[in-house]
Amino acid sequence: MDMDQNLDFDRYDRIRPIRWRGSHLELLDQRKLPFAVEYVECADSRSVGTAIRDLVVRGAPAIGIAAAFGVVLAARTIEAADGAQALERMAADIDELNRSRPTAVNLMWAIARMRRALAGAGADWRERIEQEALAIEREDLAANRHMGVLGAGLIVPGSGVLTHCNTGSLATAGFGTALGVIRAGVASHRIDRVFASETRPWLQGARLTVWELREDGIPATLIADAAGAHLMKSGAVQWLIVGADRICANGDTANKIGTYTHAIAARHHGVRVMVVAPSSTVDMATPDGSHIHIEERDGSELLAVSGQRTVAEGVSAFNPVFDVTPAGLIDAIVTEKGVIEHPDARKMAALFAG
Ligand code: MRU
Repeated sequence: MDMDQNLDFDRYDRIRPIRWRGSHLELLDQRKLPFAVEYVECADSRSVGTAIRDLVVRGAPAIGIAAAFGVVLAARTIEAADGAQALERMAADIDELNRSRPTAVNLMWAIARMRRALAGAGADWRERIEQEALAIEREDLAANRHMGVLGAGLIVPGSGVLTHCNTGSLATAGFGTALGVIRAGVASHRIDRVFASETRPWLQGARLTVWELREDGIPATLIADAAGAHLMKSGAVQWLIVGADRICANGDTANKIGTYTHAIAARHHGVRVMVVAPSSTVDMATPDGSHIHIEERDGSELLAVSGQRTVAEGVSAFNPVFDVTPAGLIDAIVTEKGVIEHPDARKMAALFAG
């Protein structure tokens, strides 16, 4: 297929993790995939916050979209004459949603956008915030499709790629970020080989990415996280393509734990590194990666597999779930606003300041 306008987006993109039903939100329960496809119903903002914390819904853009609908649900519990009054009365619920996970800036970005929509709304404030949440979702899908085309354009036909974590439809409104580039790259015959690393300890790669790709008819091969360097040495992959939870003003990028390790191995083996994320993941207020709050989750995620303990009793675990890849290891940051090659503070400011 010829790039780019001809890309058949729907053919390679069938899964939707978030379904707004007007009265409630449905979230595809990602804890149960790939063996059960079940949606959790959220009828209030508290259950949306819990779903985000417990990883029912995960992936930076999807977290932001779910939180936006959480604000719409919080509005159901109050009466107010206008948006400003509603904002005051919903403050505690909105703050709670905002705290549900710390690293993905899309969450804070979406909440800030919902707060702005409320602050500027009159008597029609309920309708305004529902429309705002729907717009956040719609814009995310459009950004992903555009990034897919931009990112695939960087890839030479016949290439192999490695991805980490899950950055697909499951992590976004649809199509995905890094996985969107892979979808577009496969559809345009630029990518011949797709490898996904399992992503210990929660197994987003093993449980979600290879399932999602299989659902959409894209062949992919699973590797252990520790097999990344060995794979790169073999010459089978030309690009490491990953998403992001927060991209700082200098291009440093927080993403799923293990991304940094892959990026170091990639530089050693001449494999190029592409970070794909919508501008809602760019945080120009954070100067560099040293200022990012890295989420640490319960050690039990490391000590058991599917609830079955695999480690001797009495052992403790350290479980940071993100790491920071320095800008110097990144060859390209792809956003819907454009591509930055060899990112630094000056190039980031040129695209994102203001
Ligand atoms: O802990 P998770 O599963 O929410 O982490 C997800 C990631 O790290 C993704 O790579 C990132 O959010 C980008 S998703 C398009």
